[in-house]
Amino acid sequence: MLSAQSRYHEVYAGWKSDPEGFWAEAAREIDWIRPADKVFDSQAGIYGRWFVGAQCNTCYNAVDRHVATRGDQAAIIYDSPVTGTKRAITYAELQAEVATLAAVLQDMGVTKGDRVVIYMPMIPETTFAMLACARIGAIHSVVFGGFAAKELATRIDDAKPKAILSASCGIEGARVIPYKPLLDEAISLSKAKPESCLVFQRPQLDASLVDGRDLDWAGAVAQARAEGRKADCVPVEATDPLYVLYTSGTTGIPKGVVRDNGGHMVALKWSMGHFFGVKPGEVFWAASDVGWVVGHSYIVYGPLLHGCTAILYEGKPVGTPDAGAYWRVIADHGIVTLFTAPTAFRAIKKEDPGADLLKKYDLSAFRALFLAGERADPDTVKWAEDILGTPVIDHWWQTETGWPVAGNPLGLGALPVKHGSPTVPMPGYTLDVLDEAGKSVGPNKMGSIVIKLPLPPGALPTLWNADERFRDSYLSVYPGYYNTSDAGYLDQDGYIWVMGRTDDIINVAGHRLSTGGMEEVLASHPAVAECAVIGMKDALKGEVPCGFVVLKSGIDRSPEEIEAELVALVREKIGPVAAFKLAITVSRLPKTRSGKILRGTMKKIADGDEWSTPATIDDPMILTEIGDVLRARGLAG
Ligand code: COA
Ligand code: AMP
Repeated sequence: MLSAQSRYHEVYAGWKSDPEGFWAEAAREIDWIRPADKVFDSQAGIYGRWFVGAQCNTCYNAVDRHVATRGDQAAIIYDSPVTGTKRAITYAELQAEVATLAAVLQDMGVTKGDRVVIYMPMIPETTFAMLACARIGAIHSVVFGGFAAKELATRIDDAKPKAILSASCGIEGARVIPYKPLLDEAISLSKAKPESCLVFQRPQLDASLVDGRDLDWAGAVAQARAEGRKADCVPVEATDPLYVLYTSGTTGIPKGVVRDNGGHMVALKWSMGHFFGVKPGEVFWAASDVGWVVGHSYIVYGPLLHGCTAILYEGKPVGTPDAGAYWRVIADHGIVTLFTAPTAFRAIKKEDPGADLLKKYDLSAFRALFLAGERADPDTVKWAEDILGTPVIDHWWQTETGWPVAGNPLGLGALPVKHGSPTVPMPGYTLDVLDEAGKSVGPNKMGSIVIKLPLPPGALPTLWNADERFRDSYLSVYPGYYNTSDAGYLDQDGYIWVMGRTDDIINVAGHRLSTGGMEEVLASHPAVAECAVIGMKDALKGEVPCGFVVLKSGIDRSPEEIEAELVALVREKIGPVAAFKLAITVSRLPKTRSGKILRGTMKKIADGDEWSTPATIDDPMILTEIGDVLRARGLAG
C-alpha cells in the first residue's frame, strides 16, 4: 500500500537504528558557537536533553548567517489587506531592525534569561521583537491578541517578565481592537509587574502611555538607530529556553510550554526540507497567528532558519476582502507552500463553493497545502484537492511538540493519502496506542495515543517553573511514554488516525481552548449553581463551546438575561477567541451516581450522534430534557 517512491521508510528506519546519529547529522545544518558534548544526555533534565554542552544563537541562525548569501532576498513579506499595506523586509534589513530593537531591549534592562511578554498583532514589529529577544538570550512569551486582560495577567504572573512589548491595536476585519487598555488592565490585575513596556503606535490608533513605565517604540528605536547602537548575538546554551508559550490545560491555568534553542533549531530546519519539501529561497506561508505555536514554528523560526521568505499575513481567509484572499496572496508572492487550519478552508468553501475566485489568480508556483491544528475532515481535504490540484497534507502535532509528530513527508516523497489520517510518524517519534491499563491495543483499535520517550529535539523539555506539573500532566499516566491526550488508532499500514481529545480541551477554529477554564468563569457568576461546558460540532469552526448551567434556587431573574451575562462574562474573562456564544439553562446536569458530570453523553446529544443512557446515571430523565432544550433552540445535530 505504501509508495516505493518515498524515502520515508528508509529515513525513519535510519533514525530508529541510530537516533543520535540521525540528529547529529541534522544538526550540521545549524551554525553552532560550540558543538555539543553529547547529542543526547539521558541523565539530564526530566527525560533527557538534546545537544547538551552546545552553544548557539537562534537569531544568528535565523537572520545573520543569511545576510552574506541572501542579504537582498525578502526574509519577511508583510501582507495586510486590513490596512492596505505590503512590505518586504530583506534579510539585511531584518538584521538591522532586530539588532537595533535588541539594543533597545538592553536599554530597558533586559538581559539573558529574562522573560519578555509580547502582546501584539500580526505586524513585522512582532517578529522583530521575538528575534530581538532570541538575539540577546531573553525568553519571549507571545500572548495571542484574542485573549482578554485576565488571561494575559495569568501569563504575566507565571512568566514574571522584565518587560512587555505591545502595540496600540490589532485589526480584525474592519474593526480596530485597542490592545493597550487590555494590557493596562492585565498589568493592574497581575502581581508580577514589568519594569517597562515598549508600545508600538499603529497609525490606526494612538494609545496613551503610562508615565515612567511605557516607552514609545518608534522613538526608542529611532534614538538607538541615530546613535548607531546594535546588539550582538549572545551565546546561549542549546538547552536554554528560547521561549515559553502558554497553551490551554485542563484547568483555567495555562501551561507554559518551554522551547529550547538548540533542539528547536535542528528539528525545525529538518522539517522545512524533509517534511514540507521546501527549498531555501522559496516563499513559505503559514496562515496562522504568531500567538500560536504554528506561528512560532512556521511563520517565524522555521522559514527563516531555512533561508526562505516568510509571509506575515494580517487578514482572514474570508472577508478581507473576499474568499479569494488566500489565492491573491499566493499569486502575489509566488508562494510554493501554504499551511493553515482546515477551518480556513471550510470558511472559503462556504463563501465560494465552486472556488470561482480561484480562477482570477495564477497559482502556477504553488505546490502543496498543509493542514493542521484540528482534525482535517475528509470532505474539506477532498474539496481542497479538487480545487487546487496539488497535494493536500494533513499533519498532526501540538504546542508541546513544536513540529509535526505525524504527517505525509512531501520532502521525502509523499506516501499514499488516506483521507482522515495524518499519515505516519516522523523520525523522532515512536507512536503507540494504549488502553487504560497501559497495554498496547494493536492495529485498528481506539485508545490513547502516546509517544515513546525520549521526545525528539524541538519538543518541550518541561513546563515553565513546573517540572512536577509536566510529569503529572504528560509522563505519569503511562510510564515511559508522553501522553498526547489525543485518542485514535494506528491502522494495519502504520497510519495514525487522530479522532479527538481524551481531556476537556476543545478545538475552536483551530484554536485550542479549555472547557474547564470556561466552566471556572461560568461558575463565578453569582446566579450559577453548577455548570458544564462541552464542545459542540460546528460546520465552520469544527467545534464551538456550549455551556449548560443550573441556576441557584431562589434566583428569580429571567434565564435569558443570565445566559447573555454568561456569554459576556466569558468574552470578558477569556476573550473573544473563546467564541463562547451559547449558554443554556437546564434544571440539573446529568451525572453518574458518584457525581461525575456526563459531558460525553451531553456532547453526543448536542452533536446528534447516537447515544445510550449510561448505566451509572443518576437520573436518566435529564438527558431527555437536554435533547428537548437543544432542539427547541434549533440545535442537537
Ligand atoms: N485579536 C483580537 N480579537 C481576535 C483576534 C486577535 N488577534 N483573533 C480573533 N479575534 C476575535 C475575532 O474577531 C472573533 O471576534 P467576534 O466574536 O467579535 O467575531 C473571535 O475572536 C473569534 O475568532 P475566530 O474564531 O478566529 O473567528 P472568526 O469568525 O473571526 O474567523 C476563521 C473564523 C475560520 C476565518 C478564522 O478562525 C481563521 O482564519 N482560522 C484559520 C487560521 C488560524 O488562525 N488557525 C489557528 C491555528 S493554525
Ligand atoms: P495546539 O496545541 O493548539 O496545536 O493543538 C493541538 C491539538 O490539536 C492536538 O492535540 C489535537 O487534538 C489537535 N490537532 C492538531 N492537528 C491535528 C490533526 N491534523 N488531526 C487531528 N487533530 C489535530
